[in-house]
Amino acid sequence: MNIKQLVQKYFDRKGLPIRPALTFSDVTIATRYSDIARRSDLQDFNARLAKNFALNIPIVSANMEDVTGAGMAIALARAGGLGFIHQFFPIDQRVKEVQKVKRADNARIDRPLTIEAGATFGDALEKMKDHGISSILIVDGKKRLQGILTSRDYRFLTEKDHKRPVTALMKKMPLKTGDPRITAEEAVALFEKYKIEKLPLVDARGVLRGLMSAKDIEKKRQYPHAARDAKGRLVVGATLRLNADYLDEAKQLVAAGADVLLLDTARAGSEIVVTATKKIRKALPKAVLVVGNVDNPEHVELLVRAGADCIKVGIGPGARCKTRMVAGVGTPQIYAIASCAAAARELGAYVIGDGGIRGSDDFAKALVAGADAVMLGSLLAGTDESPGLLIRKGNQLWKQYRGSASLEHQLERIKKGSLDEVRNPEGESSPVAYAGSVSYVVKGLLDGLRSSMSYAGAHTVKELQEKASFLWVSDNGYEEGKPRS
Ligand code: XMP
Repeated sequence: MNIKQLVQKYFDRKGLPIRPALTFSDVTIATRYSDIARRSDLQDFNARLAKNFALNIPIVSANMEDVTGAGMAIALARAGGLGFIHQFFPIDQRVKEVQKVKRADNARIDRPLTIEAGATFGDALEKMKDHGISSILIVDGKKRLQGILTSRDYRFLTEKDHKRPVTALMKKMPLKTGDPRITAEEAVALFEKYKIEKLPLVDARGVLRGLMSAKDIEKKRQYPHAARDAKGRLVVGATLRLNADYLDEAKQLVAAGADVLLLDTARAGSEIVVTATKKIRKALPKAVLVVGNVDNPEHVELLVRAGADCIKVGIGPGARCKTRMVAGVGTPQIYAIASCAAAARELGAYVIGDGGIRGSDDFAKALVAGADAVMLGSLLAGTDESPGLLIRKGNQLWKQYRGSASLEHQLERIKKGSLDEVRNPEGESSPVAYAGSVSYVVKGLLDGLRSSMSYAGAHTVKELQEKASFLWVSDNGYEEGKPRS
């Protein structure tokens, strides 16, 4: 059976018409007999992006400049999802953003930030700022611990202190240190006993082997649903640029700790992307690789056979997308997700539904259609953790949200030297309302999803995907569902 026939079979089973192509507002999730007593009983939102990579909630953040830097990736991983560091940072900055996520909430840091004893306070400050952390360990040329500089040591210093040697400001040895094999519980006992916040780990020769941080142990307890790697660090995704040395970028990002690589282009159903996918898979056989965007099952098949684990689906549904208006292409998103997911399932691969999600209803519908996770742009762009600018208009707060192919974003890239000319903009730029914290937005989405699951009689997201089906609604049917006065 070829992919087209398999897709047809999937649609028949789901009771979906293969044409016309439907989108979020055209469908409603059919209710089913349910043995779920309380929505709060529903706690399993496990989502898989590859055979060897899972999340605790089916949400990833858009690899857009106004959505995902390290701050967003940290917040979303703490909530159980994954952030994709955007590709508009130069590669060295992308590497640093990945490292920031890997350091956050990490009870045991194997390679803590250090500086040599000959450095100035200014050098130390710059290094800490660069890595987004507030303390640094001072070592000699043989990596033996000499001291520690924490915010308490420099909080009130000014620029005139920048030239002072860091050794004059640090807390010197003997410091309280721990054995490199110490457990988190043993470290907590030492934090309490000595009233300290950081515990450098040194071996018998005094060589620095790691660092335990009280705050990070606390954070780990605070976020029990966080998505973590095998070492207990938050997970993070990072985006590759097709028109750069993507193999070198991929190796650098994996070395920095990226758990998932994303090769993202507007048209992934193309020879150049299939070739790139094959090369990345060959160079990094174990990497978790997401490739996108596509909107039809044949392209899913090509990319999965080329080596992708997961395919990002969506041509033109995004809140700031103009592709459909400019090029007259693109598939309505529910149809795109359903047909691509059907192909991916048969091939043992996964799909992310990217774009067009306006609330918890669309979120649940994308999952019912077969998405393993959704990618969110506009719903996350308004949060505290997005890098976009906060804008005050009258007494309302907004955050900047520019389509990646918008004129405004292209002009900024020209200014930064990463683009040479403005191309026909296929995106728009306008602010989104300020939305509070990522955790607040995620909670709203999960509460809505619990409700959908309870109506559909599904205990897990997987069950929702397998059991639930759609009804096709008329415009009047959709209108009927809106609150009226
Ligand atoms: P939402 O609806 O969540 O969509 O804001 C986010 C997704 O939109 C896509 N995107 C674009 N698509 N022109 C486009 O055609 C653009 O300028 C543009 N910028 C972002 C992208 O897939 C993102 O994840």
